Order: sequence, then C-alpha cells, then structure tokens
Amino acid sequence: MGFFPKLFSKNSSEYYLALDIGTEVAKALVFYIDNEQKMAMVMGVGKERQKKGNMQSGAVSDISGVIETCQSTINKALENAGIKKVKKAIVGIAGELVKGTTTTVHYERGNPDSRIDFQELKNIIQKVQIKAYERIQEQISWETGQDIDVKLINAAIVDVRIDGYKVANPIGFQGKDVSVSIFNAYAPMIHLGALQAIADELRIDLLSIAAEPYAVARSVDYDDALDFNAIFIDIGGGTTDIAVVRNGGLEGTKMFAFGGRAFTKKLAQELRIEFDEAEELKIKYAEGKLGSDVSFKVEQILQNDCAVWLSGVELSLSEFASSDVLPSKILLCGGGSGLPGIKKALMSQDWLHNLPFAKSAQVNYLQPSDVVRVTDKTNELMNPQDVTPMGLANLVLDVTGEEKVMAGILRRVLHTIQD
Ligand SMILES: Nc1ncnc2c1ncn2[C@@H]1O[C@H](COP(=O)(O)OP(=O)(O)OP(=O)(O)O)[C@@H](O)[C@H]1O
Ligand SMILES: [Mg+2]
Repeated sequence: MGFFPKLFSKNSSEYYLALDIGTEVAKALVFYIDNEQKMAMVMGVGKERQKKGNMQSGAVSDISGVIETCQSTINKALENAGIKKVKKAIVGIAGELVKGTTTTVHYERGNPDSRIDFQELKNIIQKVQIKAYERIQEQISWETGQDIDVKLINAAIVDVRIDGYKVANPIGFQGKDVSVSIFNAYAPMIHLGALQAIADELRIDLLSIAAEPYAVARSVDYDDALDFNAIFIDIGGGTTDIAVVRNGGLEGTKMFAFGGRAFTKKLAQELRIEFDEAEELKIKYAEGKLGSDVSFKVEQILQNDCAVWLSGVELSLSEFASSDVLPSKILLCGGGSGLPGIKKALMSQDWLHNLPFAKSAQVNYLQPSDVVRVTDKTNELMNPQDVTPMGLANLVLDVTGEEKVMAGILRRVLHTIQD
C-alpha cells in the first residue's frame, strides 16, 4: 500500500525506467514525473548494441546475454542521470507473435428504456474480451500450427456507441443497440516469462509491459480527435511494426520480421564484406556521406530489398483494408526508417493502387519532440530511433496519472474478469 501515496505525491522525485529491448539496440531511459506539468522528464539515456544471437525478430532468444546488455545500458542511463538505482520500469515487448486487434461487439438490449449501469457494462466488456481472446488464440494457432498460450498485455477502449451515437461513457444512457470496441494486445506467455526473468535478474519491478507498436501509436496526441487517421511504422533492426489508427481509435497492430539488419546483410553479401563494415557503410550512405558513385551503387544493391520490405507493408495493411479507406498519413520511426529507400518506397505511387487509399501518401518522420508528455533533458534523444523508448515512457503516465473514466472502468472490469 505504501506504493500509491508515494506515487501520487506532488513532488515525488522517484525515478522510472523505460526499457526497449530492441533486436539491434537495447535502449534505456531514466526519468521522473513532473506532476505539475504531467510530464516525464528524461534525465538519462543509455543505448547498447545487442550481441549476436541475443534477439530473434524482436523477441529474446538468449536471456543471460540480454541481461548483460540491458545491465550496461541501464548503468549508462543511471550514470547519465546522476542517480544510483531505479526500481520501477516499463518494458516494451515486440516480436511477431505479439498481436493487437480491435474487437467490436454489438449488443441488443432487452430493455432499451432502462439506464445502463456498471453491471451491464461489465457484461458487455466481458463479451468483447472473450471474443477477442478466442480470435487471437485462433489466429496464432492458425499461423504457427501450435497452441501457444497468450496473455493480455494492453487494453484500451476504442469506441462506444449507443444507437449509433458515439459516447465517452455509456453508464447512465438509455438505448437499444450498444456497440463497444476494445483494442487488445496479447503476447505469448513464453516471451512474457523471459521479460520477467530479465526484470528479476536486473532487480527491477515491472510496472507494466507494453506492446511496442501500441506505445508508438500512443506517442502522438490525438485523444478524442475523431478525425485523426494515421499509419505508424516502426522500422527496427529485426522487425517492422505497424499500427493503424482510424478515427482517433487504434484499430490494430501488425509486425513482420524485416528491418534494418536485412539491408546490412544484403550489402555484406553483395560486397563480400563483414557485417560491421557493411553496417557502417549503410549508415554513411543514409547520412549522405558517400561519394556519388558509391552511393549510387549502394542504392542499386538495396533497391530490391526495399521493394521486398514494401510488399511486407502492403500485405500487413491489406488486413485493414476491408472495412474502410486507409489513412494517407504515414508516420515513420525506428532506426531503420533512416534508410532513404524506405521513404522513397512509400512515396512511390504503384503500391497505393493495390490498397484502398483515398489519396497519395504523405510520409513523415516522428521526432522525439513529437512524443507527448515526454521532455528530454539530456539532449541525447535526437532522431526517430528514440521515439519507441520515449513512447514507453509516455505510457507510464497512464499508470501514475489521473485515469480517464472509461479507462478506469475497463481496468476494473478486466480485474474482476481475471480474478
Ligand atoms: N541513419 C540510419 N540510416 C539507416 N539505418 C539506420 C540508421 N540508424 C540506424 N539504422 C538502422 O536501424 C536499425 C536499428 O534500429 P532500432 O534501434 O530502432 O532497432 P531495434 O529497436 O533494436 O530493433 P527491433 O525494433 O526490430 O527490435 C539497425 O538496423 C541500423 O542499421
Ligand atoms: Mg525497436
């Protein structure tokens, strides 16, 4: 119990950790929450390349190796911040088997004149959650051919309607047809267990585990903005994560195992050089630091892989294409987004015709300054690669700050369902 009064006290100088265990780079942010400004203040940043074999497409494959990398990343961030230790952490989870979808349940009320109360809302939410869980479990066993146990990690109310009218909180309303849409992210137990083992070893308490594309999609402010539509794409080293937001609600997330590493590997293969050398060459190319001849050659080599990557995006988006037009606003983050061919591929017109886009795509990068409720005091968060861990830090404010009414109801209901 001692935990809560401390958390909510006004001048709490308690520090938190956001840990993004990437396939290529582990990233740690140490921050405190300024309760007056409702802001996470980042005081320390640590980044460290993963050792070979530590990670596989966004998921941990060598627990002790990852612990080592995380420990030194966290130490750097602590040193940076000038503090000795940090206890509470939010950790991101990614990987192909982390699934996020929005499930809608339509429900006809037996007595439209009565007012909706907590009990009734709880029943509706319960129906949505049962349906969502079945659907996810089915999808995973279809994809993998196995029964893999999954657990709910993030849930958010996307949309509530009564007789077609959108309401913020249905309690107290009358009406016949109620529809509730909830976004849920699930992760395999085995991956969650790995993160728990890492946290235990690092002696940190997991305040929460968040699906990374969920964190990225929440990193920009569009609360209650019904006209906000965007596709968020986080291109990391091993994976590309996609989140689709339509009418201000997160509709779903998808991942595929293709990221910056693939481009480096291709360069290494074609030029018969070591991976590290190819990596250096790729970054120089992306930063425009190569002579035009070499630059042209690199572009040629990577062109085909950019097309392969684009077809991964296309395939992922096709699953969102049945219900409505796709958002034309595309927001990029993750280190891999720095490759010029990525933006170029997205800006090419051909692929847009295969999907229901209403207009041609506007492609922009998400910058650290775009992330809501997070202020960088270190001046070390400089580019789209830093957005993902900052998005994790932003989510901590959901746990520590005031809660929206429906979020509170959802949390209480999930609690009673799970107990
Ligand atoms: N300026 C740049 N131009 C092109 N690629 C870059 C640049 N900077 C970093 N990258 C690439 O970004 C990748 C690392 O990005 P990031 O740190 O976002 O990945 P990660 O979070 O470790 O991986 P994942 O999200 O897949 O688990 C590497 O493949 C690296 O080569
Ligand atoms: Mg990443």
